[in-house]
Amino acid sequence: EPSTVPTPDRTLVIVKPDGVARGLTGEVLRRVEAKGYRVVRLEMRRATPDELARHYAEHEGKPFYQPLVDFMLSGPVVLAVVEGHGVVPGFRSLAGATDPTAAAPGTIRGDLGRDWGLKVQQNIVHGSDSAESAARETAIWFGADA
Ligand code: TYD
Ligand code: MG
Repeated sequence: EPSTVPTPDRTLVIVKPDGVARGLTGEVLRRVEAKGYRVVRLEMRRATPDELARHYAEHEGKPFYQPLVDFMLSGPVVLAVVEGHGVVPGFRSLAGATDPTAAAPGTIRGDLGRDWGLKVQQNIVHGSDSAESAARETAIWFGADA
């Protein structure tokens, strides 16, 4: 018999190579957990070109695409599947605006992002932009069973 308990919302969070290298993985996960979200999968590894081509397919052909992919290959990333009510827009709100220079104080990118001529791509975290993106991205990084 089908359960009447709804499946909790899920999003895919990535601590990017700059965040990992700066030792901000714990700070990102602390904020996620402090908000009340639950980390249900967690893994540190190096991304592959194939995973990144699939993950960033929507940006292929844009001027920032290849620098973004190269940056994502430059060091290990931390991949997290995060669960919670409204977590897809909720984590985007925790992350803040794409460009750390413009991101509001109180957000991950606003509080921890840097403005010393570094690139927009170095913005610490990725968060899925919709439930569909979350399902697609989770399957890329963790497989269809995730
Ligand atoms: P995007 O999906 O637009 O941003 P977000 O991560 O907020 O969903 O872009 C993906 C990543 O590409 C973004 O995190 C940083 C990088 N990027 C640039 O380097 N330059 C740009 O002009 C944009 C729009 C994004
Ligand atoms: Mg995006």
